[in-house]
Amino acid sequence: MKKVKVGIVGLGRLGIEHARNLAFKIPNAELIAVCSVVQDEVDKVQKEWGIPYGYTNYDEMIKNEELEAVAVLSPSPFHVKQIVSALDAGLHVFVDKPLGVTVEECKEAEKAVERNEDKVFMVGFMRRYDPSYAYAKKLIDEGRIGKPFLIKCTSCDPEHTIDGAIRFAATSGGLFIDMAVHDIDLARWYLGSEVDQIYAIGGSYVHEEFAKYGDGDNVCSLMKFKDNSMALFYAGRDAAHGYQVETEIVGTKGSLRIAAEPAKNMCKIFDNNGVVSECSQSFQERFSEAYVIEMQEFINCIVEGRKPDITVYDGTKNTEVAFAATKAFQENTVVHL
Ligand code: NAI
Repeated sequence: MKKVKVGIVGLGRLGIEHARNLAFKIPNAELIAVCSVVQDEVDKVQKEWGIPYGYTNYDEMIKNEELEAVAVLSPSPFHVKQIVSALDAGLHVFVDKPLGVTVEECKEAEKAVERNEDKVFMVGFMRRYDPSYAYAKKLIDEGRIGKPFLIKCTSCDPEHTIDGAIRFAATSGGLFIDMAVHDIDLARWYLGSEVDQIYAIGGSYVHEEFAKYGDGDNVCSLMKFKDNSMALFYAGRDAAHGYQVETEIVGTKGSLRIAAEPAKNMCKIFDNNGVVSECSQSFQERFSEAYVIEMQEFINCIVEGRKPDITVYDGTKNTEVAFAATKAFQENTVVHL
């Protein structure tokens, strides 16, 4: 079997998941190089998993002539620079969301993708590959709920990860680009239309630290799409019960609900608290399967010489809408795209 030789940059919270998947769960991929600015992270992965090449400098890694592809899991402000240099070095590129941290940057990524059209480029909006979300898309395409005209999205991180969120508040770009961008991608995908008008509200209700960065710990946005369909987004940083991603899509003949209860699994505990269903506690736990499936799709596209459905233009659009929502929130106004 042909194995695609891959390098990964970023070995943090999500990078280590993708690295593990590439090393052990994707049969037609071979993780041959790892890169992080933290030498200990590189050493640990190389030693424990027997990865031949390790780097603390990304530009050095992409010079490795054995490499065919890279996965970019560095912090978001590095994405576009690393995408452009890898594509121009002749490598296929997977990058996690968001594509870039400004729309102008995303346009640079578009140009690099366009001038390297023989290369596979994929943006990691993994929810599209989660089996429940993919199934919902299939049902919508088959007409099971008629024409969808409303999507309601909830995305909340658990309170127990709040210290990390506060630490990165200055550079996260805010809740819309950091978290609701996944919901924006789903809304565009399911509704099959583009955003026209955006209103947003919210605040720092529990953790005032977010306010000084023009962000909130809980925010909402209401959007009208060009075909008159509607979307309602709620994103939060401090859910007491755990990690919750829930989506409802309402159509002219019915509706779909994905993860209406953010249950960890199918086990219910009957005890002195009543009947308890435990909640998933992290994105790694809830979307572990989706991360494998999306990376498998990236590798299969390379092997089979085809392109993923999700494009660089989706990455730009999602960023554009997320920043428009941030502007609507910060300026208390309606933004027209
Ligand atoms: P993190 O902060 O936990 O890890 C970042 C990693 O990149 C670390 O290994 C760090 O040493 C390395 N790094 C930093 N600057 C570097 C540079 N210039 N060159 C090489 N390595 C560098 O970050 P996290 O949370 O893993 O996020 C990484 C990306 O994944 C972000 O863009 C984030 O938006 C995205 N993400 C996506 C999620 C999803 O559900 N799809 C969930 C979490 C993160």
